[in-house]
Amino acid sequence: MWEYTDKVMEFFYNPRNQGVITEKKEGEKVVTGEVGSIACGDALRLHLKVDEVTSVILDARFQTFGCASAIASSSALTELLKGKTIDEALRLTNREIAEYLGGLPEEKMHCSVMGQEALEAAIFTYKGIPLESHEDDEGTL
Ligand code: FES
Ligand code: FES
Repeated sequence: MWEYTDKVMEFFYNPRNQGVITEKKEGEKVVTGEVGSIACGDALRLHLKVDEVTSVILDARFQTFGCASAIASSSALTELLKGKTIDEALRLTNREIAEYLGGLPEEKMHCSVMGQEALEAAIFTYKGIPLESHEDDEGTL
């Protein structure tokens, strides 16, 4: 049986940045990236608010029907994203998300991959790149 770090538990019980982004000012753009199927089960939606001039992520929120690790890692991801530029965010790996939480059990690493994939989807949407064009990318596990 695996064990969760205290930080995973803390982020599970008190998730930061859960929900949607409802407000934006002029010059700000809100985009969403989704992975999995919200209707079906494991799924994650990541919402980003980006300054269109500087490309800095001003706000990040998430919604998930995933497990405890998915909640903790999505929440950690939103904390990691704020203040980063879009290009810096694109370089973020699921390992960094797990490290921020003091580690995730190996069996649960895929929950952090969902966050990384939703992030990629949101950024591609922001850049106006069709999602199909990066399907050949290697996995990050
Ligand atoms: Fe989708 Fe079970 S409801 S796999
Ligand atoms: Fe599927 Fe965590 S989201 S096991």
